[in-house]
Amino acid sequence: MERTVNIDIKATAGFVSDADLSWYESLAFKALDILEDGSGRGSDFLGWMDLPSKTDESIISNIESIVKDWRRDINLIVVTGIGGSYLGAKSAIDALSHSFRNNIGKDLPQIVFAGQNLSEEYHAELLDLMKERSVACVVVSKSGTTTEPAVAFRIIKSYIEETYGRAEAVRRVVAVTDESRGALKGLADKEGYRTFVIPDNVGGRFSVLTPVGLLPIALAGFDIRALINGAAGMEQICRERSSDNPAVKYAAIRNALYSKGKKIELLVTYNPKLQYIAEWWKQLFGESEGKEGLGLFPASVNFTADLHSMGQYIQQGERTLIETVVSVKRSNRSLEIPLDEENSDGLNFLAGKSMDDCNKMAELGTKIAHYDGGVPNILIEIPSINEFNLGALYYFFEKACGVSAYILNVNPFDQPGVEEYKVNMFALLGKPGFESKANELKGRF
Ligand code: PA5
Repeated sequence: MERTVNIDIKATAGFVSDADLSWYESLAFKALDILEDGSGRGSDFLGWMDLPSKTDESIISNIESIVKDWRRDINLIVVTGIGGSYLGAKSAIDALSHSFRNNIGKDLPQIVFAGQNLSEEYHAELLDLMKERSVACVVVSKSGTTTEPAVAFRIIKSYIEETYGRAEAVRRVVAVTDESRGALKGLADKEGYRTFVIPDNVGGRFSVLTPVGLLPIALAGFDIRALINGAAGMEQICRERSSDNPAVKYAAIRNALYSKGKKIELLVTYNPKLQYIAEWWKQLFGESEGKEGLGLFPASVNFTADLHSMGQYIQQGERTLIETVVSVKRSNRSLEIPLDEENSDGLNFLAGKSMDDCNKMAELGTKIAHYDGGVPNILIEIPSINEFNLGALYYFFEKACGVSAYILNVNPFDQPGVEEYKVNMFALLGKPGFESKANELKGRF
């Protein structure tokens, strides 16, 4: 049977010795044991580990009933959230959607995001769009207190209430939040919104397979059962104490390379639809590992576009890079390059080949060039882009992240550093209780 996630580390040869790699593999197995027996740091946040195999049917059917309800008359769904409450849904919807979804096949609702920034222009322009559509909103926040989505939701809520009336607003808003805590939960209860729970033991960046991701993905028209099944298969595979366990293999090699001075890991994609998979991955690894002065810096490039902007640096700049390529074996579409009798552009050597053949040769050619230039290459291959394989990919990365962070000996499940900017922002905005901080900041920069 074809594997949903296949790792190939041949193009890391020469950058780490076999002995080093086996050492890191042994550390990865120890880290896996710690994750499995729940004895590591942050172990009250391990709910994501068996989420796929334990997803409650009632969650799926509640999601499906909202999809059915809104499909009748809603053509714009605004998903409000940031970080882990945004990137999972955005990445899956982008990966699975037609590239021109909003201009073609008008039977599916348009999905847009809000509260993932504080840009006034973005949100004012979103209101312009909302005025032309029949709007519903999914508001997502685990803490229920995050400023960016809370501000955006206040604006969206007020628009929906003014436009459709307060009673109808109750049908047009769904909240995904904590079971009992936070301002959003209080608001949802007061207004009578339908709600979904983000389990206590699942952190934001590990929540794509909870209603945080599942609801928007289903509303966008995709098969969340297949997504969960793909993840559930990977849950089994990533539990195995075998060197074929892809999570162990990936965590071991990236830490081995890190120990050799490779400080930056570039996630490379060759399909613009996967750009937000890279954004999701950056948050997952960056927020989980980047602490205590440690951690590979996660960055991303989308080739071949970025070969024409970042390719020079990757080939010849500072030799601190690793490339991790998420490669897709089969394209979902085929497009043959035609023969041109006149061959004025000199491209007849490509006639009869598919665009994907060209993309694959660009991928291989780049891998060899960058490897020869001093950039080790980890290949992560999935068979094709569909819900099942994406589910497997999400779970694989989550498990690899847990293993990798435990090799590094940091707590993968907290993010104390994220608070610093919030405190300053609250003080500067005059939030009650932050007066002394405001005085401290006065006159700085
Ligand atoms: O991974 C995390 O925990 C964060 O990225 C959060 O998801 C993000 O800060 C949003 O938080 P919340 O869902 O509480 O609004």
